Amino acid sequence: MRALARLAAATLLVAAPLAAVTVSAADAADEPVPITVLTSDFEDGTAQGWAGRAAETVAHSTAVAHGGTGSLEITGRTASWQGPSLDVLGVLEKGTAYTISAWVRTVSGTDNARLSVERRTGEVASYDQVVGNTAVNAGGWVELTGRYTLATDVDLLRIYVETAAGTGAFHIDDVTVSYVPSLPIQTDIPAVRDAVTSFPVGAAITGAETVTTHGDLLERHFDSVTPGNALKWDATEPSENTFTYAQADPLIAWAKANGRAVRGHTLVWHNQTPAWVFTGADGQPMTATPEDKELLLSRLENHIRNVAGHYGDDIAVWDVVNEVIDENQADGMRRSTWYAVTGLDYIRTAFRVAREVLPDAKLFINDYNTNIPAKRDKLYDLVAQLRSEGVPVDGVGHQMHINVSWPSVAETEAMIRRFMPLGVEQQVTEMDVSIYTSEGESFPTPPADRLLRQAYVYRDMFALFQRYAAEITSVTLWGLADDNTWLDTFPVTRKDAPLLFDTRLQAKPAYWGVVDPSRITSPSPSVSPSSSPSIPSSASPSTSPSASGGPGACAVAYRVTGSWPGGFQGDVKVTNTGAATVSGWALTWQYAGDQRIAQLWNGALTQSGPAVTVTNTSWNGTLAPGASASFGFLGSWTGSNPAPSAFTLNGAACTPL
Ligand code: XIL
Repeated sequence: MRALARLAAATLLVAAPLAAVTVSAADAADEPVPITVLTSDFEDGTAQGWAGRAAETVAHSTAVAHGGTGSLEITGRTASWQGPSLDVLGVLEKGTAYTISAWVRTVSGTDNARLSVERRTGEVASYDQVVGNTAVNAGGWVELTGRYTLATDVDLLRIYVETAAGTGAFHIDDVTVSYVPSLPIQTDIPAVRDAVTSFPVGAAITGAETVTTHGDLLERHFDSVTPGNALKWDATEPSENTFTYAQADPLIAWAKANGRAVRGHTLVWHNQTPAWVFTGADGQPMTATPEDKELLLSRLENHIRNVAGHYGDDIAVWDVVNEVIDENQADGMRRSTWYAVTGLDYIRTAFRVAREVLPDAKLFINDYNTNIPAKRDKLYDLVAQLRSEGVPVDGVGHQMHINVSWPSVAETEAMIRRFMPLGVEQQVTEMDVSIYTSEGESFPTPPADRLLRQAYVYRDMFALFQRYAAEITSVTLWGLADDNTWLDTFPVTRKDAPLLFDTRLQAKPAYWGVVDPSRITSPSPSVSPSSSPSIPSSASPSTSPSASGGPGACAVAYRVTGSWPGGFQGDVKVTNTGAATVSGWALTWQYAGDQRIAQLWNGALTQSGPAVTVTNTSWNGTLAPGASASFGFLGSWTGSNPAPSAFTLNGAACTPL
């Protein structure tokens, strides 16, 4: 069980509905502490609540075990979807990102196993795949592990394991569900939307980004949202003329409720489009016949009338067509089924119908690698041709999936300038900056030098976009924070960190690259212990993180925000109530009980017995008169957990609040 492997001696007991977790102080100082909320080890001779999904038999077994002597055996399956299932309603909380892990082996033979979550709200059932097909056999145990965030209220919630093909018997063992507790979002740093005022800044979202702490972060920093998947064809019209907005409606409702713009993505694409769309009346894959062309264009028209019409003016910008260019073709057109069956007419139809349905919306053609001259020029030619024909293309979307070493600012500037003669709007629609420079690289945690390089890329690209604010009418990032990025599985599976906020929703150097480049600093060792920054910074030096400032009048609010037997979470807000700026601070207090802080964020901790000293980080060390800094922590206690009654800031007593 990966998540628990590095947890050691018992110094901290953290609350969990179903399990206690221990952690060594050394680990806890640096790394987030996963909390395990569910364990099925099958060591007590029972099935521990697991049941079959139909009439198959689910029973405790001692034939094989991953750990200990027991496992769960599933026999008598008559369909591949049958398998063990466990009720987790009330165990998984909405908005929390869980890691779910299960070990699987077959009784004999091979298959592919996968792990999913079944959820129901009212009569509507959904099946969310957590771990895709993974080869399993009878020779050894294979771990299925993946991440899952519940984004909606549900009446039924179950995790289950099934197989892809066969109905053979299999075992599961050592199932765990764990999560890393979310940190409060930083409220003492500028909002991206306030720092960048030349154009709206957006984020791509799934449901999970609109609830709990993620929702707070989204609301605080971003002007607009793009549903990352919820408006695609497979989500909105999974079977012919059956439209469903279950995924997208809550996202659009969130945007409306919070007064945020929405970029609609996307009406036509070659991916995430169900097979029925390209299947002819004869049940065969469509080809370039007049009948197939007519049917495909009528399906396209029906789709756009329904989806664009459903949202009307609530979505004022649409990526009407996505990724239609292939610069390696002489005519520049991607050889999709759309193109094979209709030529350019699918694009003409899509824009015409979208304009009819939404006369006021801005209609975009969107693509990636538009900074590569060959691709950029093919896209330019297409847009020029379409506009000369009167096809209502209002704008060009540059996806900007880039990385820390590519492309250059000059290439990106050339990209923007290329489209200026057309008089179209330009938007950056899917920006992220991978920390990887090749497919062969993989880092367990993002190295400090990559995070720093990434900060300079964000700095330089946003500076460029701001210089071209007359052309660039919005910039959207493809995700909210590094805990949920498509780059974790594309182009290969590895942890990436391409956005402004880290996996715990805290501001990265990249954030400062956008918001205030003078404050870009190397990430603290707790974020990335492995390497030190290696590229020169042209940014001005940061404020010193040391506690060198003079004494000042101060007020301190110390709060316990959550408490459970043995553990607690708290936060502290320190305010400079004096007349002089404090440059660098150290706050001290004494605990009256045996409290020990195990993990602290937005500050640096030293604790010696009951004496605690917290010093500023690199970015919250300067407190102008009236300004505050906040930090939070997880700790342990026994007996009682009284709040400290006295504090000093740089040696001078503060007023406790
Ligand atoms: C991606 C989503 O983020 C993923 O969740 C999904 O599995 C695949 O698609 N270019 C696009 C986006 O236009 O629609 C893609 O989004 C990323 C690349």
